[in-house]
Amino acid sequence: MNVYDSLKIVSILQECGYRVVDVPEKACLFVLNTCHVRKKATEKVFSDLGRLRLLKTGHLAPKIIVTGCVAQALGVEVQRRAPWVDIVIGPQALHKIPLLLEDLEQKRPCLCLEGSAAEKFKKSFHAPLPEGRVTAFLAIQEGCDYFCSYCVVPHTRGREFSRPIESILEEAHAFIQQGVKEITLIGQNVNAYCGMDATGAMCDFGTLLRRVAPLPGILRVRYTTSHPRHINESLLHAHATLPQLAPFIHLPAQAGSDPILKAMNRPYTRADYLMAIDKLRTVRPDIAFSSDFIVGFPGETEEDFQETLSLVKSVTYAQAYAFKYSPRPGTPAASLPDQVPESAKEERLARLLDILRKQQQDFNRQSVGKVVSVLFEKPGRHSGEITGRTLHFQSVIIKAPQSVIGSCLPVRIIELLPYSLRGEYTPSTA
Ligand code: 5AD
Ligand code: SF4
Repeated sequence: MNVYDSLKIVSILQECGYRVVDVPEKACLFVLNTCHVRKKATEKVFSDLGRLRLLKTGHLAPKIIVTGCVAQALGVEVQRRAPWVDIVIGPQALHKIPLLLEDLEQKRPCLCLEGSAAEKFKKSFHAPLPEGRVTAFLAIQEGCDYFCSYCVVPHTRGREFSRPIESILEEAHAFIQQGVKEITLIGQNVNAYCGMDATGAMCDFGTLLRRVAPLPGILRVRYTTSHPRHINESLLHAHATLPQLAPFIHLPAQAGSDPILKAMNRPYTRADYLMAIDKLRTVRPDIAFSSDFIVGFPGETEEDFQETLSLVKSVTYAQAYAFKYSPRPGTPAASLPDQVPESAKEERLARLLDILRKQQQDFNRQSVGKVVSVLFEKPGRHSGEITGRTLHFQSVIIKAPQSVIGSCLPVRIIELLPYSLRGEYTPSTA
């Protein structure tokens, strides 16, 4: 979501006459788009601000804007700890940046935390993408109504808001005109989408997918992040019937033990999660999964953690992320008794990551020797190489001419790399 918002910020500022520069020393304005989800991300903001203070005294005396979830949650603290920041603005108020910059002479420092996702989506226009992009994020929904006990997102991004279908389709068309072939629909709770169509009827996520997937020019549609609670018939039907819908889902489980899921305020059991996985596999047997896990949630015992490991083993993920629980100010879990010691969190994280790494390798190994469809996305690190992705979101490096960028072509996978694959493209395999 921050990547998407950052592109919007760039385009809002370009409208005001700014342009992106390549080194910090040339900048007359900095925008820090921040993340508050774990402590480490928040601390990084304050250390970046310390570095920016030095530039502030240079001849360009750049203006500094802080936005994103740290701005929303800790706006006053940012101003207190970094009085050299000019504007602190919440993630739902981005469209107000031009006005605030204009008024800066009279109103500095400025703190603007009011705004709603509805207003933001109404006011913000379609950002031009950087040259040559063939994939794009498209926000369809923002905010979250779930209040998992560890999570700051409902406090910073606010309640769920779903964009009307027509406005989503308009943005999709703008992307297609710029050469985009793959759209990833994004939202904090993307499959909880419930938006209005042109007739005023409310539509669910499956219905939205049926509108977006067949748009001419679109080769692939993905979505993230989905909630296990919203794997309903409409979504299953979309996976069973839409050829453009990639058979790969990021479906965060967070934990595998029922008491921990309950303490996390996740509204499903381990059995519900496994049933959602089963239903998706039934309608789309080649579907692959990714997930998020939190280890060391307050009260998590070794037995609870074993339940997470056994869930991972029974699902077998194509890839997944795992994090140590990070107590966040203002969330109920932060004041729970039985906080798990850092050393136990670290040890569990290492064990979980080890299994996830092996599962990713095993999953990728199955592709070696096969011919798979790859969307060629961008030049690789070495000259003559292009990187792309399979339907299952595996990264593939291939020697190929630049002209293939934007095409979806069959590629023979010839080698397993640590986190990616090497492929061979010969026009004859096409
Ligand atoms: N500590 C650790 N991980 C967290 N996440 C969210 N809040 C926390 C926290 N307090 C993780 C969840 C979520 C992902 C985006 O970040 O796994 O799915
Ligand atoms: Fe946070 Fe996701 Fe839970 Fe919402 S559903 S509170 S965004 S972890």
